Amino acid sequence: MYPSLKRDSRFSELTNEHIQFFKSTLGDDAAVIDGVSKDATDDLEPFNRDWMKKYRGHTKLVLKPKSTEEVSKVLKYCNENKLAVVPQGGNSGLVGGSVPVFDEIVISLSRMNKIRNFDDISGILVVDGGVIMEIADNFLAEHNHLYPLDLGAKGSAQIGGNVATNAGGLRLLRYGSLHGNVLGIEAVLPDGTIFDDLSTLRKNNTGYDLKQLFIGGEGTIGIITGVSIHCAQRSKAINVAYFGLPSFEHVQRAYKEAKIQLGEILSAFELMDARSQAFVHEVTGNKRPLEGDHPFYCLIETSGSNTEHDSEKLEKFLEHVMGEEIVSDGVLAQDETQVRQLWGWREGITEAIGHFGGTYKYDLSIPIKELYSLVEETRDRLNSKGLVGDDDSYPAIAVVGYGHMGDGNLHLNVPVRKYTQEVEDAIEPWVYEWIQKRKGSISAEHGLGIAKKKYIGYQRSDTMLKLMRQTKDLYDPNGIMNPYKYI
Ligand code: FAD
Ligand code: MLT
Ligand code: ZN
Repeated sequence: MYPSLKRDSRFSELTNEHIQFFKSTLGDDAAVIDGVSKDATDDLEPFNRDWMKKYRGHTKLVLKPKSTEEVSKVLKYCNENKLAVVPQGGNSGLVGGSVPVFDEIVISLSRMNKIRNFDDISGILVVDGGVIMEIADNFLAEHNHLYPLDLGAKGSAQIGGNVATNAGGLRLLRYGSLHGNVLGIEAVLPDGTIFDDLSTLRKNNTGYDLKQLFIGGEGTIGIITGVSIHCAQRSKAINVAYFGLPSFEHVQRAYKEAKIQLGEILSAFELMDARSQAFVHEVTGNKRPLEGDHPFYCLIETSGSNTEHDSEKLEKFLEHVMGEEIVSDGVLAQDETQVRQLWGWREGITEAIGHFGGTYKYDLSIPIKELYSLVEETRDRLNSKGLVGDDDSYPAIAVVGYGHMGDGNLHLNVPVRKYTQEVEDAIEPWVYEWIQKRKGSISAEHGLGIAKKKYIGYQRSDTMLKLMRQTKDLYDPNGIMNPYKYI
């Protein structure tokens, strides 16, 4: 995958002596997958391969510490012995950041999974970095609160991973970014120092807000072992509408109208194009929510305190946009099962399009007016190069667009029968040049990992890159933390 990357000779190779240290420090067979003193290929496989089956590492060792102190001992030893490491959460990241490139040690947070504290007056939750987001949300539901982030990988993604990627997801429109919701972080620096800023304060203006460096840092300066996060009251009334529209112009009008009419209860406004919905239908076999085909589909969710009031508002909104011919057809979920079913048409896209071989994924921030033109231009470009088509002689199957319309975040995806250089060269760096011209972002929410390592210059100036480099060197002078990735 990366012919230009060479293993950094500063890093040591693992020996049986290293393994002995880790085994005695972690003191538990379940804490070490040792592929150095024996063959453990099958057990190591899930840690070496990413969710998209696009990136593959060659680790021979996975460590699963159970406490912050254990992480500290392990990292201190790695730093002193120049052993490179990759922090890994649920391994659901989409930019190849969570798997090793060569033989870096995987430090998995999976056994650091305790909910430490919850205060139902302030709504502040304190957890270990390895708590799975769905488990946190189920716990919060028992206390009438909700985890402020929702995404399709919630059953495997961990809170530390969410924070390390600064994940956005389906509710950002309402609950905001993790840069605001995360109130405190406990992390371990490469030399073993415990960075204890696990504050539970909403307000704290005392100098540089250093924890922000870990939010979206992608495991390049330390391992997040604890997170304190502000969680909102769970809404009693969740309503969902799913509708079809004739053009992207109409999608924009519907979005504007939704803000006017539903502003205070709007919790999601998601966009799906016709092709994305056809894939979900083809792969799941589920009955489509609407009759007929529409070029675009949107999903609106409202979260409020009064079901009757909210559904009345949503019904009125739908009547209005249909009356004005902004929306061609629409349906409202009648109960919780239908809410989940309608969400399935949005959340199920990632899995459905990845079903055939692979997907070239681009996660972009674009001024809303031009958001969908990129999908059309990419489609034209791949068509003109003869790279996309229905039968197996074409490498690409389709060009698909969906995303978080309310956040100006498009997911441009090119599902392929297999990953080929030809398709990649047809899209990159062209897509990043397109984004740069419009002052968009080459990574809205997934991060950079290894996938966008080459392209960071399309986003960040030399001055910004220099400051990032200096920051990295300050925290991680030996460069052991998640090497070969974007920094
Ligand atoms: P991993 O994949 O394990 O790791 C991701 C990165 O964080 C790596 O660089 C890793 O080294 C680092 N890391 C992980 N844990 C730690 C830690 N404790 N300390 C330091 N560094 C750490 N993302 C969105 O933003 N929005 C979405 O809507 C969204 N939907 C998704 C849907 C699906 C089906 C899938 C598969 C992925 C989706 N993602 C989405 C991508 C992904 O960013 C999130 O799934 C999640 O935040 C990653 O968490 P994780 O625990 O799996 O992290
Ligand atoms: C989503 O919004 O569905 C996620 O970011 C995953 C993806 O981009 O496919
Ligand atoms: Zn997304």
